[in-house]
Amino acid sequence: MSRATEILGAFIAAGLAIPAIAYLLRPARSVAPGGFVDVLDLTQLKLKKPEEVTFQRIRKDGWKLLTEKSTAWVVKLSENEVVAYSPQCTHLGCAYSFSEEKNEFVCPCHTTNFSIDGKVLGGPAPRPLDRYPTKVQGSRLLISVIEPAKTEQSKKGA
Ligand code: FES
Repeated sequence: MSRATEILGAFIAAGLAIPAIAYLLRPARSVAPGGFVDVLDLTQLKLKKPEEVTFQRIRKDGWKLLTEKSTAWVVKLSENEVVAYSPQCTHLGCAYSFSEEKNEFVCPCHTTNFSIDGKVLGGPAPRPLDRYPTKVQGSRLLISVIEPAKTEQSKKGA
């Protein structure tokens, strides 16, 4: 193998490895006392424009508590109301995304659509999007690291 090929290979390997290592070493947002994690500066959140945020949360698996990376869709519904939705569709748990074009959340699995206030617009999902408990401290949004709360509609059916 020529020297130039070795150098090129080293650059390609570094180009692949550096982003992966940076992702793994990126510090998780720390958990605040009371089980909430600081995820977002609310002054940077636009009205009715969902933002996907990443944070670490605690999931109960049998008797164990596991810490894992999670995401939430955060929406400022009005100047006084901010919600954080669980990223799983309430039908069978697929990850949904936000469609700028339709201005709604869209689940690709069985085509459920949700409005930005979490209501089912169409499709097989049985209830609105589940929400994480949230708190506002100053201009910061904190999300509970515990399981997202099921909506009232789903609690009644459970
Ligand atoms: S899992 Fe989303 S529509 Fe079925």
